[in-house]
Amino acid sequence: MAKIQAPRGTHDILPPESRHWIEMERRTHELMRRWGFEEIRTPMFESEELFVRGVGQGSDIVRKEMYTFTDKGDRRLSLRPEGTASVARAAVEHGMLQPGRVLKLYYQGPMFRYDRPAAGRYRQFHQMGAEVIGSAAPVADAEIIGVFWAWLLEMGLQGLTVRLNSVGCPVCRPAYRERLRDFLRPKLEWLCGDCKERFEKNPMRILDCKVPGCQAEIVGAPSTLDSLGEECRTHFEEVQACLQAAGIRFEIDPGLVRGLDYYTKTAFEVHHAGLGAQSAVGGGGRYDGLVEEVGGGSSPGVGFSTGLERILLALEADGVAELAPPARPDWFVATVNSDARDEALRLVTALRRRGAAEMDLSGASLKSQFKQADRLGAAKVIVLGPREIERGVAMVRDMATHQENEVPLKELYTGGSESA
Ligand code: HAM
Repeated sequence: MAKIQAPRGTHDILPPESRHWIEMERRTHELMRRWGFEEIRTPMFESEELFVRGVGQGSDIVRKEMYTFTDKGDRRLSLRPEGTASVARAAVEHGMLQPGRVLKLYYQGPMFRYDRPAAGRYRQFHQMGAEVIGSAAPVADAEIIGVFWAWLLEMGLQGLTVRLNSVGCPVCRPAYRERLRDFLRPKLEWLCGDCKERFEKNPMRILDCKVPGCQAEIVGAPSTLDSLGEECRTHFEEVQACLQAAGIRFEIDPGLVRGLDYYTKTAFEVHHAGLGAQSAVGGGGRYDGLVEEVGGGSSPGVGFSTGLERILLALEADGVAELAPPARPDWFVATVNSDARDEALRLVTALRRRGAAEMDLSGASLKSQFKQADRLGAAKVIVLGPREIERGVAMVRDMATHQENEVPLKELYTGGSESA
Protein backbone atom coordinates (compact mmCIF):
# COMPACT_ATOMS: atom_id res chain seq x y z
CA MET A 1 0.00 0.00 0.00
CA ALA A 2 1.17 3.52 -0.72
CA LYS A 3 2.52 5.40 2.29
CA ILE A 4 0.34 8.15 3.71
CA GLN A 5 2.16 11.38 4.49
CA ALA A 6 1.30 14.29 6.76
CA PRO A 7 -0.51 17.07 4.82
CA ARG A 8 1.69 19.68 3.11
CA GLY A 9 2.65 22.48 5.48
CA THR A 10 2.14 20.42 8.65
CA HIS A 11 4.81 18.70 10.70
CA ASP A 12 5.06 16.04 13.35
CA ILE A 13 6.79 16.95 16.58
CA LEU A 14 8.89 13.93 17.39
CA PRO A 15 11.22 13.08 20.26
CA PRO A 16 13.78 14.38 21.05
CA GLU A 17 12.37 17.69 19.65
CA SER A 18 9.15 17.25 21.63
CA ARG A 19 11.26 17.78 24.76
CA HIS A 20 11.90 21.35 23.64
CA TRP A 21 8.19 21.94 23.14
CA ILE A 22 7.43 20.68 26.64
CA GLU A 23 10.16 22.94 28.00
CA MET A 24 8.88 26.00 26.08
CA GLU A 25 5.39 25.35 27.44
CA ARG A 26 6.71 24.85 30.97
CA ARG A 27 8.70 28.10 30.88
CA THR A 28 5.66 29.89 29.44
CA HIS A 29 3.37 28.81 32.30
CA GLU A 30 6.01 29.75 34.85
CA LEU A 31 6.72 33.20 33.35
CA MET A 32 3.05 34.05 32.85
CA ARG A 33 2.34 33.19 36.48
CA ARG A 34 5.02 35.69 37.53
CA TRP A 35 3.51 38.36 35.23
CA GLY A 36 -0.04 37.73 36.46
CA PHE A 37 -1.54 36.31 33.25
CA GLU A 38 -4.00 33.40 33.38
CA GLU A 39 -4.36 30.74 30.71
CA ILE A 40 -7.37 30.55 28.40
CA ARG A 41 -8.08 27.63 26.06
CA THR A 42 -10.54 28.22 23.23
CA PRO A 43 -11.79 25.84 20.51
CA MET A 44 -9.64 25.15 17.47
CA PHE A 45 -12.58 25.96 15.21
CA GLU A 46 -15.02 28.84 15.44
CA SER A 47 -17.79 30.26 13.29
CA GLU A 48 -16.33 31.74 10.10
CA GLU A 49 -18.14 34.97 10.96
CA LEU A 50 -15.89 35.55 14.00
CA PHE A 51 -12.77 35.89 11.86
CA VAL A 52 -14.53 37.73 9.03
CA ARG A 53 -15.64 40.37 11.54
CA GLY A 54 -12.62 40.18 13.88
CA VAL A 55 -9.57 39.73 11.65
CA GLY A 56 -11.29 41.57 8.80
CA GLN A 57 -12.79 40.94 5.39
CA GLY A 58 -9.93 42.78 3.69
CA SER A 59 -7.09 40.82 5.35
CA ASP A 60 -5.14 38.18 3.42
CA ILE A 61 -5.95 35.75 6.23
CA VAL A 62 -9.70 35.95 5.62
CA ARG A 63 -9.51 36.43 1.85
CA LYS A 64 -7.11 33.62 1.07
CA GLU A 65 -5.82 31.67 4.01
CA MET A 66 -8.66 30.27 6.10
CA TYR A 67 -9.56 26.61 6.28
CA THR A 68 -13.34 27.06 6.13
CA PHE A 69 -15.83 24.24 5.81
CA THR A 70 -19.52 23.49 6.22
CA ASP A 71 -20.25 20.89 8.91
CA LYS A 72 -23.02 18.27 8.81
CA GLY A 73 -25.36 20.77 10.46
CA ASP A 74 -24.74 23.33 7.67
CA ARG A 75 -22.69 25.64 9.88
CA ARG A 76 -19.85 27.64 8.32
CA LEU A 77 -16.81 26.98 10.48
CA SER A 78 -13.14 27.96 10.21
CA LEU A 79 -10.05 26.44 11.78
CA ARG A 80 -8.69 29.32 13.84
CA PRO A 81 -6.00 31.28 11.95
CA GLU A 82 -5.03 33.20 15.12
CA GLY A 83 -6.08 33.48 18.77
CA THR A 84 -7.05 37.08 19.50
CA ALA A 85 -10.54 37.05 17.96
CA SER A 86 -11.35 33.86 19.90
CA VAL A 87 -10.13 35.38 23.18
CA ALA A 88 -12.31 38.46 22.59
CA ARG A 89 -15.28 36.24 21.71
CA ALA A 90 -14.83 34.10 24.84
CA ALA A 91 -14.38 37.16 27.09
CA VAL A 92 -17.66 38.63 25.79
CA GLU A 93 -19.53 35.30 25.83
CA HIS A 94 -18.61 34.58 29.46
CA GLY A 95 -19.10 38.09 30.80
CA MET A 96 -15.42 38.41 31.72
CA LEU A 97 -15.26 42.09 30.80
CA GLN A 98 -16.40 44.17 33.75
CA PRO A 99 -16.02 47.95 33.96
CA GLY A 100 -12.86 48.84 35.83
CA ARG A 101 -11.41 45.34 35.48
CA VAL A 102 -8.34 44.58 33.37
CA LEU A 103 -8.23 41.05 32.00
CA LYS A 104 -4.81 39.43 31.44
CA LEU A 105 -4.94 36.18 29.49
CA TYR A 106 -2.48 33.95 27.62
CA TYR A 107 -2.86 30.95 25.35
CA GLN A 108 -0.84 28.50 23.32
CA GLY A 109 -1.81 26.03 20.64
CA PRO A 110 -2.06 25.25 16.94
CA MET A 111 -3.28 27.80 14.37
CA PHE A 112 -4.11 27.16 10.71
CA ARG A 113 -3.43 29.26 7.62
CA TYR A 114 -3.45 28.14 4.01
CA ASP A 115 -0.21 29.86 3.12
CA ARG A 116 2.62 28.78 0.79
CA PRO A 117 4.87 26.62 2.98
CA ALA A 118 8.46 27.85 3.36
CA ALA A 119 11.13 27.85 6.06
CA GLY A 120 9.37 29.19 9.15
CA ARG A 121 5.96 29.23 7.43
CA TYR A 122 3.51 26.36 7.84
CA ARG A 123 -0.18 25.61 7.35
CA GLN A 124 -0.49 24.31 10.89
CA PHE A 125 1.80 26.20 13.23
CA HIS A 126 1.82 26.93 16.94
CA GLN A 127 1.42 30.26 18.63
CA MET A 128 1.80 31.48 22.17
CA GLY A 129 0.16 34.81 22.84
CA ALA A 130 -1.12 37.12 25.53
CA GLU A 131 -3.83 39.77 25.67
CA VAL A 132 -4.63 42.62 28.06
CA ILE A 133 -8.28 43.63 27.63
CA GLY A 134 -10.04 46.49 29.43
CA SER A 135 -7.36 49.18 29.41
CA ALA A 136 -6.73 52.00 26.95
CA ALA A 137 -3.68 53.18 28.89
CA PRO A 138 -0.22 53.19 27.22
CA VAL A 139 1.15 51.26 30.20
CA ALA A 140 -0.93 48.26 29.04
CA ASP A 141 0.87 48.37 25.65
CA ALA A 142 4.18 48.39 27.54
CA GLU A 143 3.02 45.45 29.70
CA ILE A 144 2.36 43.39 26.54
CA ILE A 145 5.65 44.28 24.84
CA GLY A 146 7.38 43.77 28.21
CA VAL A 147 5.99 40.30 28.81
CA PHE A 148 6.83 39.28 25.24
CA TRP A 149 10.38 40.57 25.64
CA ALA A 150 10.80 38.78 29.00
CA TRP A 151 9.46 35.57 27.42
CA LEU A 152 11.95 35.81 24.52
CA LEU A 153 14.82 36.26 26.99
CA GLU A 154 13.49 33.37 29.08
CA MET A 155 13.79 31.15 25.98
CA GLY A 156 17.43 32.22 25.67
CA LEU A 157 17.15 34.23 22.44
CA GLN A 158 19.54 36.96 21.37
CA GLY A 159 19.84 39.21 18.31
CA LEU A 160 16.28 40.56 18.66
CA THR A 161 14.88 43.92 17.59
CA VAL A 162 11.54 45.43 18.63
CA ARG A 163 10.00 47.51 15.81
CA LEU A 164 7.30 49.93 16.85
CA ASN A 165 4.75 52.00 14.95
CA SER A 166 1.33 53.54 15.34
CA VAL A 167 -1.27 52.79 12.69
CA GLY A 168 -3.72 55.39 13.99
CA CYS A 169 -7.40 54.92 14.70
CA PRO A 170 -10.69 55.10 12.77
CA VAL A 171 -10.66 58.88 13.29
CA CYS A 172 -7.25 59.67 11.79
CA ARG A 173 -6.83 56.71 9.43
CA PRO A 174 -9.20 57.79 6.62
CA ALA A 175 -7.09 60.91 5.99
CA TYR A 176 -3.92 58.77 5.93
CA ARG A 177 -5.50 56.30 3.51
CA GLU A 178 -6.31 59.18 1.16
CA ARG A 179 -2.72 60.50 1.32
CA LEU A 180 -1.44 57.01 0.62
CA ARG A 181 -3.82 56.55 -2.32
CA ASP A 182 -2.71 59.89 -3.75
CA PHE A 183 0.90 58.68 -3.51
CA LEU A 184 0.16 55.26 -5.03
CA ARG A 185 -2.31 56.29 -7.77
CA PRO A 186 0.35 57.17 -10.38
CA LYS A 187 2.13 53.86 -9.64
CA LEU A 188 -0.97 51.66 -9.72
CA GLU A 189 -0.23 50.00 -13.05
CA TRP A 190 3.13 48.68 -11.74
CA LEU A 191 1.67 47.12 -8.60
CA CYS A 192 0.89 43.38 -8.38
CA GLY A 193 -2.70 42.11 -8.91
CA ASP A 194 -3.28 41.75 -5.13
CA CYS A 195 -2.14 45.31 -4.49
CA LYS A 196 -4.37 46.66 -7.26
CA GLU A 197 -7.28 45.09 -5.32
CA ARG A 198 -5.96 46.42 -2.02
CA PHE A 199 -5.76 49.96 -3.41
CA GLU A 200 -9.47 50.66 -2.88
CA LYS A 201 -10.28 48.42 0.09
CA ASN A 202 -7.16 48.42 2.20
CA PRO A 203 -4.29 50.47 0.75
CA MET A 204 -2.19 50.20 3.95
CA ARG A 205 -1.68 46.49 3.25
CA ILE A 206 0.25 47.51 0.11
CA LEU A 207 3.02 48.73 2.42
CA ASP A 208 3.39 45.14 3.65
CA CYS A 209 3.47 43.49 0.18
CA LYS A 210 6.47 41.20 -0.26
CA VAL A 211 6.49 41.36 -4.10
CA PRO A 212 9.78 43.08 -5.05
CA GLY A 213 8.09 45.25 -7.73
CA CYS A 214 5.64 46.60 -5.14
CA GLN A 215 8.40 47.15 -2.57
CA ALA A 216 10.22 49.34 -5.07
CA GLU A 217 7.07 51.42 -5.70
CA ILE A 218 6.34 52.10 -2.02
CA VAL A 219 9.73 53.71 -1.36
CA GLY A 220 9.00 57.24 -0.15
CA ALA A 221 5.34 56.49 0.77
CA PRO A 222 3.87 58.83 3.39
CA SER A 223 4.23 57.62 6.96
CA THR A 224 1.28 56.83 9.23
CA LEU A 225 3.09 58.81 11.92
CA ASP A 226 2.67 62.08 9.99
CA SER A 227 -1.12 61.63 9.91
CA LEU A 228 -1.79 60.71 13.54
CA GLY A 229 -4.45 62.71 15.35
CA GLU A 230 -3.73 64.34 18.69
CA GLU A 231 -4.94 61.40 20.81
CA CYS A 232 -3.02 58.76 18.82
CA ARG A 233 0.16 60.87 18.80
CA THR A 234 0.06 61.35 22.58
CA HIS A 235 -0.63 57.64 23.09
CA PHE A 236 2.33 56.73 20.88
CA GLU A 237 4.65 59.07 22.79
CA GLU A 238 3.45 57.67 26.13
CA VAL A 239 4.00 54.07 24.98
CA GLN A 240 7.58 54.99 24.10
CA ALA A 241 8.07 56.63 27.51
CA CYS A 242 6.73 53.50 29.25
CA LEU A 243 9.03 51.23 27.22
CA GLN A 244 12.01 53.41 28.08
CA ALA A 245 11.05 53.27 31.77
CA ALA A 246 10.80 49.47 31.53
CA GLY A 247 14.25 49.29 29.91
CA ILE A 248 13.03 47.88 26.58
CA ARG A 249 14.89 49.11 23.51
CA PHE A 250 12.94 49.59 20.29
CA GLU A 251 13.21 51.07 16.81
CA ILE A 252 10.48 53.18 15.28
CA ASP A 253 9.46 51.67 11.94
CA PRO A 254 6.97 53.95 10.16
CA GLY A 255 6.49 51.32 7.42
CA LEU A 256 5.27 48.66 9.84
CA VAL A 257 1.67 47.73 9.12
CA ARG A 258 0.21 44.46 10.31
CA GLY A 259 -1.70 41.88 8.32
CA LEU A 260 -4.83 41.90 10.50
CA ASP A 261 -7.49 44.61 10.23
CA TYR A 262 -8.26 45.02 13.94
CA TYR A 263 -5.23 47.10 14.89
CA THR A 264 -5.53 50.65 16.19
CA LYS A 265 -2.71 52.88 17.45
CA THR A 266 0.23 50.71 18.57
CA ALA A 267 1.60 48.06 16.20
CA PHE A 268 4.84 46.18 16.83
CA GLU A 269 6.90 43.23 15.71
CA VAL A 270 9.99 41.51 17.06
CA HIS A 271 12.51 40.35 14.47
CA HIS A 272 15.42 37.97 14.79
CA ALA A 273 18.60 38.56 12.81
CA GLY A 274 19.17 34.88 12.00
CA LEU A 275 15.81 34.10 10.38
CA GLY A 276 16.03 35.27 6.75
CA ALA A 277 12.78 36.12 4.93
CA GLN A 278 10.38 35.09 7.73
CA SER A 279 12.25 37.11 10.35
CA ALA A 280 9.27 38.09 12.54
CA VAL A 281 9.29 35.90 15.63
CA GLY A 282 6.12 37.63 16.74
CA GLY A 283 4.03 40.72 16.73
CA GLY A 284 0.91 42.38 17.91
CA GLY A 285 -0.62 45.66 18.85
CA ARG A 286 -3.66 47.47 20.15
CA TYR A 287 -7.19 46.60 19.00
CA ASP A 288 -9.59 49.05 20.60
CA GLY A 289 -12.53 48.14 18.35
CA LEU A 290 -12.29 44.33 18.29
CA VAL A 291 -14.47 43.53 21.30
CA GLU A 292 -17.31 45.62 19.86
CA GLU A 293 -16.78 44.00 16.46
CA VAL A 294 -17.47 40.56 17.99
CA GLY A 295 -20.57 41.74 19.80
CA GLY A 296 -19.34 43.11 23.15
CA GLY A 297 -19.35 46.57 24.67
CA SER A 298 -16.54 49.02 24.17
CA SER A 299 -13.43 47.43 25.67
CA PRO A 300 -9.96 48.35 24.42
CA GLY A 301 -7.29 45.68 24.20
CA VAL A 302 -3.67 45.03 23.30
CA GLY A 303 -1.78 41.79 22.74
CA PHE A 304 0.96 39.84 21.01
CA SER A 305 1.59 36.38 19.67
CA THR A 306 4.67 34.48 18.66
CA GLY A 307 5.23 31.52 16.35
CA LEU A 308 6.86 28.72 18.30
CA GLU A 309 8.36 27.02 15.22
CA ARG A 310 10.16 30.30 14.45
CA ILE A 311 11.39 30.52 18.04
CA LEU A 312 13.01 27.09 17.66
CA LEU A 313 14.56 28.13 14.31
CA ALA A 314 15.89 31.32 15.92
CA LEU A 315 17.35 29.33 18.82
CA GLU A 316 19.07 27.07 16.31
CA ALA A 317 20.47 30.13 14.51
CA ASP A 318 21.74 31.41 17.89
CA GLY A 319 23.48 28.07 18.46
CA VAL A 320 21.31 27.06 21.42
CA ALA A 321 21.32 23.33 20.82
CA GLU A 322 19.18 22.15 23.70
CA LEU A 323 16.38 23.88 25.59
CA ALA A 324 16.06 20.81 27.78
CA PRO A 325 18.68 18.10 28.31
CA PRO A 326 17.61 14.49 27.73
CA ALA A 327 16.04 12.84 30.76
CA ARG A 328 18.47 10.16 31.98
CA PRO A 329 17.20 7.33 34.14
CA ASP A 330 18.56 7.16 37.68
CA TRP A 331 18.41 3.36 37.56
CA PHE A 332 18.22 0.61 34.98
CA VAL A 333 16.97 -2.65 36.48
CA ALA A 334 18.58 -5.54 34.58
CA THR A 335 17.72 -9.21 34.97
CA VAL A 336 20.05 -12.20 34.66
CA ASN A 337 17.20 -14.33 33.30
CA SER A 338 13.40 -14.38 33.09
CA ASP A 339 13.07 -15.83 36.62
CA ALA A 340 13.94 -12.37 37.95
CA ARG A 341 11.23 -10.63 35.89
CA ASP A 342 8.56 -10.27 38.61
CA GLU A 343 11.03 -8.91 41.17
CA ALA A 344 12.32 -6.46 38.54
CA LEU A 345 8.78 -5.25 37.86
CA ARG A 346 8.16 -4.78 41.58
CA LEU A 347 11.45 -2.94 42.08
CA VAL A 348 11.12 -0.68 39.03
CA THR A 349 7.61 0.31 40.17
CA ALA A 350 8.94 1.20 43.64
CA LEU A 351 11.92 3.13 42.22
CA ARG A 352 9.66 5.16 39.92
CA ARG A 353 8.03 6.68 42.99
CA ARG A 354 11.40 8.30 43.81
CA GLY A 355 12.95 8.91 40.40
CA ALA A 356 13.34 7.71 36.82
CA ALA A 357 13.81 3.97 36.38
CA GLU A 358 13.88 1.72 33.30
CA MET A 359 13.92 -2.00 32.65
CA ASP A 360 14.28 -4.16 29.58
CA LEU A 361 10.98 -4.80 27.78
CA SER A 362 12.22 -7.14 25.06
CA GLY A 363 13.75 -10.18 26.79
CA ALA A 364 17.28 -9.13 25.85
CA SER A 365 20.47 -10.76 27.21
CA LEU A 366 22.21 -9.25 30.25
CA LYS A 367 24.96 -7.91 27.99
CA SER A 368 22.52 -6.07 25.77
CA GLN A 369 20.64 -4.78 28.82
CA PHE A 370 23.92 -3.12 29.91
CA LYS A 371 24.19 -1.65 26.41
CA GLN A 372 20.65 -0.27 26.68
CA ALA A 373 21.45 1.24 30.09
CA ASP A 374 24.54 2.87 28.63
CA ARG A 375 22.64 4.27 25.66
CA LEU A 376 19.98 5.73 27.94
CA GLY A 377 22.70 7.25 30.15
CA ALA A 378 21.45 5.48 33.30
CA ALA A 379 23.37 6.45 36.43
CA LYS A 380 23.17 3.00 37.98
CA VAL A 381 22.38 -0.52 36.84
CA ILE A 382 20.75 -2.84 39.36
CA VAL A 383 21.30 -6.49 38.41
CA LEU A 384 18.75 -8.99 39.68
CA GLY A 385 19.41 -12.74 39.51
CA PRO A 386 17.41 -15.59 41.10
CA ARG A 387 20.21 -16.42 43.53
CA GLU A 388 20.66 -12.83 44.69
CA ILE A 389 16.90 -12.44 45.06
CA GLU A 390 16.85 -15.50 47.28
CA ARG A 391 19.53 -13.90 49.44
CA GLY A 392 17.59 -10.58 49.46
CA VAL A 393 20.33 -8.62 47.64
CA ALA A 394 21.17 -7.14 44.23
CA MET A 395 24.37 -6.03 42.54
CA VAL A 396 24.42 -2.26 41.89
CA ARG A 397 26.88 -0.86 39.36
CA ASP A 398 27.69 2.83 39.24
CA MET A 399 27.98 3.50 35.49
CA ALA A 400 30.31 6.48 35.92
CA THR A 401 32.85 4.94 38.33
CA HIS A 402 32.24 1.28 37.30
CA GLN A 403 32.13 0.43 41.02
CA GLU A 404 29.96 -2.51 41.98
CA ASN A 405 28.32 -3.10 45.36
CA GLU A 406 26.02 -5.69 46.76
CA VAL A 407 23.04 -3.88 48.26
CA PRO A 408 20.15 -5.34 50.32
CA LEU A 409 16.93 -5.27 48.27
CA LYS A 410 15.16 -3.67 51.24
CA GLU A 411 17.39 -0.63 50.92
CA LEU A 412 16.69 -0.39 47.19
CA TYR A 413 12.97 -0.47 47.89
CA THR A 414 13.11 2.18 50.60
CA GLY A 415 15.99 4.29 49.28
CA GLY A 416 17.69 3.81 52.62
CA SER A 417 21.27 3.54 51.38
CA GLU A 418 23.75 5.82 49.65
CA SER A 419 24.65 3.09 47.19
CA ALA A 420 21.01 2.67 46.16
P1 HAM B 1 0.51 37.47 13.27
O1 HAM B 1 1.57 38.47 12.98
O2 HAM B 1 -0.39 37.10 12.15
O3 HAM B 1 -0.33 38.06 14.49
O4 HAM B 1 1.18 36.17 13.83
C1 HAM B 1 2.05 36.23 14.93
C2 HAM B 1 3.25 35.32 14.71
O5 HAM B 1 2.82 33.99 14.40
C3 HAM B 1 4.13 35.69 13.52
O6 HAM B 1 5.03 36.72 13.87
C4 HAM B 1 4.86 34.39 13.28
O7 HAM B 1 5.92 34.22 14.20
C5 HAM B 1 3.78 33.37 13.57
N1 HAM B 1 3.16 32.92 12.32
C6 HAM B 1 2.17 33.53 11.62
N2 HAM B 1 1.87 32.81 10.53
C7 HAM B 1 2.68 31.72 10.53
C8 HAM B 1 2.86 30.60 9.66
N3 HAM B 1 2.10 30.42 8.56
N4 HAM B 1 3.79 29.68 9.99
C9 HAM B 1 4.56 29.83 11.11
N5 HAM B 1 4.44 30.87 11.96
C10 HAM B 1 3.52 31.80 11.67
C11 HAM B 1 -1.37 37.41 15.08
O8 HAM B 1 -1.66 36.27 14.88
C12 HAM B 1 -2.10 38.26 16.10
N6 HAM B 1 -3.16 37.45 16.70
C13 HAM B 1 -1.14 38.80 17.15
C14 HAM B 1 -1.85 39.57 18.20
C15 HAM B 1 -2.23 39.16 19.43
N7 HAM B 1 -2.26 40.83 18.08
C16 HAM B 1 -2.87 41.20 19.20
N8 HAM B 1 -2.86 40.18 20.02
